[in-house]
Amino acid sequence: MTETLTAPPGYDVLGGDVPWDPKRHLALETPAHVTLLDEWGPDAAGPTALSPVAITAPFRLLSDEGVATLQAICSELERYAVGDERIPKKVRGSIYRSEFLRGMYGDPAVLAFLREMAQAPLEPHPISHHAIHINYAPDDLSRNVDQWHRDAISFDYVLMVSDPRPMRGGRFEYFLGAVEAGRDLLAADAGLPPDRVVSPEFPGPGWAVLQQGHRVLHRAARLEERYPRTTLVGSYWTALAEREDPTDLQTTLRVDGREIALVEWSRFQARVAAHRLEHFAASKTDFAHPLDELQSELRSIAARLEEAADAFDRQEEGRLISFGEGS
Ligand SMILES: [Fe+2]
Repeated sequence: MTETLTAPPGYDVLGGDVPWDPKRHLALETPAHVTLLDEWGPDAAGPTALSPVAITAPFRLLSDEGVATLQAICSELERYAVGDERIPKKVRGSIYRSEFLRGMYGDPAVLAFLREMAQAPLEPHPISHHAIHINYAPDDLSRNVDQWHRDAISFDYVLMVSDPRPMRGGRFEYFLGAVEAGRDLLAADAGLPPDRVVSPEFPGPGWAVLQQGHRVLHRAARLEERYPRTTLVGSYWTALAEREDPTDLQTTLRVDGREIALVEWSRFQARVAAHRLEHFAASKTDFAHPLDELQSELRSIAARLEEAADAFDRQEEGRLISFGEGS
């Protein structure tokens, strides 16, 4: 299910929106290669990885017609772009404004394709503001498009909307190693060794990479000359009942503001609890499991919901995840 209910106030539908038509817009092609976290050393997965996959080679997602339509939609959306200390120019929540984006994001063929590459049960993200995030070229060329960071969500694809071929700089880059190892290098001001930074070669617009973004340190570097660089990040929830998806409240509070964050956080927590309860009912509520284990599981699910409700009583500003000042 794609999570679009009533849109936030002021989120009007785009004038140039068109329906998503996979027959015309979709052109899925399997990537040549999928890199596993283990290839980056024993610590790269860490205790929180949700599958063995780190990042794929570029794969084609959209047809030429799909690219042209997405470019027009992103141009129209640019008027809503805002910045923060990490990302100078971005638009979030756009699936509330566009049937095309909703369709692309939740297309069953796309979901099946992403799940197979990720080796994980990806679902449309219940936090719709995470679902589709668009980055634009900063007006200030000295700033990175996005600083070194890990994602606050489990898996996401980074899709080239603009043609990457004529662009100078502005490259998507990732670190060959554990997020924590890269973070420590950045904190020590040593920088990342160039031989441990990879920048995939995208053959054109409409191509993407899929990454387990919370376990991959990555950035979009500064442009070396002005160029209308546009990328779209599609983020997904990993619905594993007995594992924690990394999605947090603090990021969405800081990026989207309290009014949006608490609505979408309640939807996420409801979906996670429902999923855990369904799994519990189906797999553990039998006479082979001791009573104290059943009680403990019920209490754990309830406590998580209590904590989600308690967040409504706090006035938190949230925070962003990034490493290395301006790096
Ligand atoms: Fe990211």
